[in-house]
Amino acid sequence: MASSTASTRPTSPVRIDVTSERGPYAVMVGTGLASSPEKTLKSLGLPVHALVVSAPEIWRRHGAAWRGVAGKRGPVLITDGEKAKTLNTVSRLYDAFNANALDRASMVVALGGGTIGDMTGFAAATYLRGLHVIQVPTTLLAQVDSAIGGKTGVNLPTGKNLVGSFHSPSAVICDPDVLGSLPRRDFRSGLYEVVKYGVIAAPSILETVTSKSHAIFACEAKVLTPLIAECCRIKAAVVTADERESGRRRSLNFGHTIGHALEAITKYRRFRHGEAIGYGMLAAGRISQWRSLMSEAELNTLRHAIRSLGPMPAVTDLSIKDALAAITLDKKVISGKLHFVAAKGLGATVSISDVTTDELKHALRDIGLRG
Ligand SMILES: NC(=O)c1ccc[n+]([C@@H]2O[C@H](COP(=O)([O-])OP(=O)(O)OC[C@H]3O[C@@H](n4cnc5c(N)ncnc54)[C@H](O)[C@@H]3O)[C@@H](O)[C@H]2O)c1
Ligand SMILES: [Zn+2]
Repeated sequence: MASSTASTRPTSPVRIDVTSERGPYAVMVGTGLASSPEKTLKSLGLPVHALVVSAPEIWRRHGAAWRGVAGKRGPVLITDGEKAKTLNTVSRLYDAFNANALDRASMVVALGGGTIGDMTGFAAATYLRGLHVIQVPTTLLAQVDSAIGGKTGVNLPTGKNLVGSFHSPSAVICDPDVLGSLPRRDFRSGLYEVVKYGVIAAPSILETVTSKSHAIFACEAKVLTPLIAECCRIKAAVVTADERESGRRRSLNFGHTIGHALEAITKYRRFRHGEAIGYGMLAAGRISQWRSLMSEAELNTLRHAIRSLGPMPAVTDLSIKDALAAITLDKKVISGKLHFVAAKGLGATVSISDVTTDELKHALRDIGLRG
């Protein structure tokens, strides 16, 4: 458990406005928002009845407050997690939408982690060419990252997130209190993405993560709420400027080129996503420093923040050759060009398209891979 003493004392919610092709929407961050959903929905001018999609374990822990919103029909519970993020599960959602006679004015709530959000968002994007969806993320990763920005989708047997759509939500409701029940490792996994925001936009986040990790892991609202809100603000600004990922949104991929490769060569079994990104950021930081984009001191600040979160799975048995092959494959998927995101000091990034195999090789060796 991340904490058994999560604060339930409500703090004033923070509101962040996002613009999107489908219209503006609010990202709300605050304790108590998910435990009194009718009040939250009303304050946003949204209907208080919706089809609620969740996973059994999440519903068991956090569903009680949503019973009124779900109404007599109850929630639609599906299996979550990466293995279940498939077209099959989406097809089950279509059946549930049909059984509940949803129409284009209907509202769907995605109450869960990133996989529930991605699947429900995709089903809502495609059923009747688009239903409204409210994202209620219950993992740290989903709160600071996946719930905002409108990317939805599922995996195919051949790869992750290969089918998807951009479908902005009608609102995103982030309640840090729900994170108290997250397994510590899942909580930590989200924190690596928090560190990423520090590197790409707001170095003070690195200082907060390093010096207040105890309060963060204890889900103390006075530290965690502003931290999550700051990350949401950064993500919101980036996706507002570049909804369809042509330029600025790329900065969000800092640490992801090498992170994705580490996930792929271990068949998505060894690392939580954030842990792989932790290694990816160490490697990307090193390349940035070799290119004099980042000083040794800045790199050490990044390293310190990453290491302060705790031990990460070993990489010493992984081969550089396999990781390079995975990077090449990833590059093919994104139209043949590797846009490597380097850090420009702390708080800014630059996309470099001429990163060499040698640089990648040395960086992989630097973080501990063999060969
Ligand atoms: N759409 C985007 O822009 C975007 C961005 C980043 C990641 N993603 C996607 O997000 C997914 C990962 O999301 P995730 O890390 O939230 O994983 P997840 O949805 O698999 O959740 C992780 C685990 O935590 C459990 N859980 C969720 N909330 C809980 C709570 N409050 N208490 C106890 N347990 C809880 C879940 O049941 C699950 O077992 C990936 O599929 C990734 O592709 C999407
Ligand atoms: Zn990520």
